[in-house]
Amino acid sequence: MPAIALKGSDVEWNCADGDTIMRSALRTGLGFPYECNVGSCGNCRFDLLEGEIEELRPDAPGLSDRDRERGRRLGCQARPLTDCVVKLRLMPQYESRFPPVRQEAELTEVRDITHDIREFRFRLDKPARFLPGQYALLDLPGVEGSRAYSMANTENEAGEWHFQIRRVPNGAATGKLFDGLAIGERIGVDGPYGMAYLRTESDRDIVCLAGGSGLSPMISVTRAAAVSPLLAGRRLDFVYGGRTARDICGRDMLAELPGFGSNIHYHPVVSGADDDDWDGHRGFVHELAAKLFSDRLPECEVYFAGPPLMGQAIQKMLIDLGVPPAQVHFDQFY
Ligand code: FES
Repeated sequence: MPAIALKGSDVEWNCADGDTIMRSALRTGLGFPYECNVGSCGNCRFDLLEGEIEELRPDAPGLSDRDRERGRRLGCQARPLTDCVVKLRLMPQYESRFPPVRQEAELTEVRDITHDIREFRFRLDKPARFLPGQYALLDLPGVEGSRAYSMANTENEAGEWHFQIRRVPNGAATGKLFDGLAIGERIGVDGPYGMAYLRTESDRDIVCLAGGSGLSPMISVTRAAAVSPLLAGRRLDFVYGGRTARDICGRDMLAELPGFGSNIHYHPVVSGADDDDWDGHRGFVHELAAKLFSDRLPECEVYFAGPPLMGQAIQKMLIDLGVPPAQVHFDQFY
């Protein structure tokens, strides 16, 4: 098992076979900076000073040619082949409340949410420990590489991990999930990961913005907030956007929660101008959020999840409205 030493310190940890330098550090309780876990964001860059690694995804967009020439690598993609010496700055905010664990889970139930979103329920034989809004990496039989999906449920003793996932056209992983995975089959679940979890220490109103599979973490955040004392006397607004009326979902899940209609408010929005079946809000999620909450957004905790273009538009809107970055929570893993 390769040992990883942090240059200029006495910090050293072991990396189990097949694991990556970043994930093994997080499992040990170290604050290795990261976000996406799939090679896209570049947050997990480190300097490889000694040792050899192999890269899970050699063309990962999180690393530029210049980074590579300077000896930088991505912690989430670097699998050590020998002992290594690395240089990076550990940060306490990345230390996991529940260090990620690699486990096997069984598919127990599948249900349709929309024409292209389904909820997949997996069960492990130990309690499920994660924060609302976090994600896990799924390893599916016959599919190369892991995929990151957010949980829709909350921490529980029954070992339940629920994921609301949108089918990606021609996607290998969602193709397997939607068409090739039978009830009772087992997959690998590695988690939890992610920084976009519910901030229970904040007493601000909450705004959740979602589209596509972003439904899942926003439902988890809302479910946890609804039963927490932190929502007493406060408001949670949930905006969900789709292209057409048949993409819209989430109301039934929120309607089951205490406080729905009084503290918790649901605002669906459809972006396709040609959809005659829809008589509600029209436009994009960021447009509706700016229209409904512009005055008070800078005073809210804002959580968002969804497709990359939606995320970029929301980020721009929040910056334009002066929402402090410390109040904005998202993990982009595309
Ligand atoms: Fe490694 Fe995003 S590139 S966490």
